[in-house]
Amino acid sequence: MTRTSLQCRECKKEYETSFKYVCEDCFGPLDVKYDFPTLTKETFASREQTYWRYFELLPIENKSNIVSIGAGMTPLIKADNLGKKLGLNNLYIKNDSVNPTFSFKDRPAGVAISKAKELGLSAVGCASTGNLASATAAHAAKAGLPCHVFAPSNIEMAKIAQALSYGANYIAVDGTYDDANRIAAQIGDSKGIGIVNINMRSHYVEGSKTFSYEVAEQLDWQVPDQLIVPVGSGAMLNAICKGFEELQTVSLLDDVSNMHMIAAQPHGCAPIVDAFKKNSKEVIPVENPDTVAKSLAIGDPGDGRYVLKRLAQYNGFAEECNNEEILDAILLLAQTEGIFTEPAGGVSISVLQKMVEQGKIDANDKIVCYVTGNGLKATESIMKVLQKPTVMKADIKEISAVVN
Ligand SMILES: Cc1ncc(COP(=O)(O)O)c(C=O)c1O
Ligand SMILES: [Zn+2]
Repeated sequence: MTRTSLQCRECKKEYETSFKYVCEDCFGPLDVKYDFPTLTKETFASREQTYWRYFELLPIENKSNIVSIGAGMTPLIKADNLGKKLGLNNLYIKNDSVNPTFSFKDRPAGVAISKAKELGLSAVGCASTGNLASATAAHAAKAGLPCHVFAPSNIEMAKIAQALSYGANYIAVDGTYDDANRIAAQIGDSKGIGIVNINMRSHYVEGSKTFSYEVAEQLDWQVPDQLIVPVGSGAMLNAICKGFEELQTVSLLDDVSNMHMIAAQPHGCAPIVDAFKKNSKEVIPVENPDTVAKSLAIGDPGDGRYVLKRLAQYNGFAEECNNEEILDAILLLAQTEGIFTEPAGGVSISVLQKMVEQGKIDANDKIVCYVTGNGLKATESIMKVLQKPTVMKADIKEISAVVN
C-alpha cells in the first residue's frame, strides 16, 4: 500500500501514483492526495532543520529516495524596522533567498527530483526563468542524474553561471519562457525525461507547500492574516494554500479560511493581475513579457486560473508594480532589514507597500511577505539604481574627506 495517490483537480478521478500528470478523462492537472497519519506539533519539534522534517506531508514513499542539499527551514524574520516604516506591527519576512541555491525553488525541485529517483527515471530537467535551473541542476548533481535546462536566452548571467557550474546541459532558447517551456514539454515526453515543472508537476508543487508548514510552525502554529506571494506560473501560491489546508486537515491548525492571499506580479508581465482587476476568470497570456523581474516573466501562467480561484476563496487581491518600484523596494528591504533580494522579492515588498497605501491591510494584521530569491543573482539590474563607487587613491587625506 502506498501513502499517496494522484487525483484530478477538475473531475476528481483518482490514479495510482506513477509518471503521470494529466487526467486521462478531462486533461485536468493531477494533485497528490494523501493518507495522512496522526500528527502532533511534537512530531516535528526535534527533527532536522530542512523541509524534509515534514516527510509525512510530502509525496515520497521511501526515505532512502530523498535527495537533500539541506534546503528549507529558512528564517522567518520579524521585520520591525520595515514594519515601522510602513505602519505595521506584525510584519514577517519569510527569507528564502538563503536556501542552498539561493531561491525558494529548492523546495519544488528537491521534491520532484526525489520522486524522479523513486520512479526510477534516468534523467531530469526543467523549463526555467532562471532560479529553477540551478535548483534542479544542484539536486540532479546530488542525485547523480543528468540534467537538461531549457531557459530563455535573456536571463541574468549569475543564474546561467550557477546552473552551468552544477554540470547542467543548459539550452538557451532564443525566445520567451513560454517557448522554452513548450520545447521542454515535448522533449520530456518524447525522451522520458522528468521535467520537474511539467511532467513531474504534481510532485513538484508539493515541495512549495513546505512554505506553509514552516511559516505555521515558526508562528507557533498560528495562521497568518495576510500572505503576500510573488506570482509567475502561480504554482507556488496555489501550493501555499494547499499546504495550509492540509495543516487544518491534520488538526495542526485551526480554521484557515480567514487568511487573505495577495498575488504580486510585475508590470510588463501581470496577466493574473489584469484578469483579477477586470473581474474575469480568464487569464489572457502576455506575448512578450518585459520586466526587470525576469524570474516572474511567465506570459502564460500554467496555474493562472487556479490563482484567481484562490484569490476568490481567500478574500485576496492581486496587484502589480513597475521596474522603478521593484528596484526601490529591493533597496528598502536591504536598508531596513539587511535582506538582499532579487527583483521577485522586490515585487513582494512593493505590493505590500501598495496594500498598506490602499488600506487593504491593518496595522495589527499578522503579515507574511514571501521573499523568494537572492539579490546576488541579479546584480546587473540592481546596479542600475546604485552608484558605482569611484576608485580612490589609497591616500588617507582624500579618503578621510569622504568619511563623515
Ligand atoms: C524567485 C522567484 N519567485 C517567485 C517565482 C514564481 O513562482 P511560480 O512560478 O510558482 O508562481 C519564481 C518563479 O520562477 C521565482 O524564481
Ligand atoms: Zn479529470
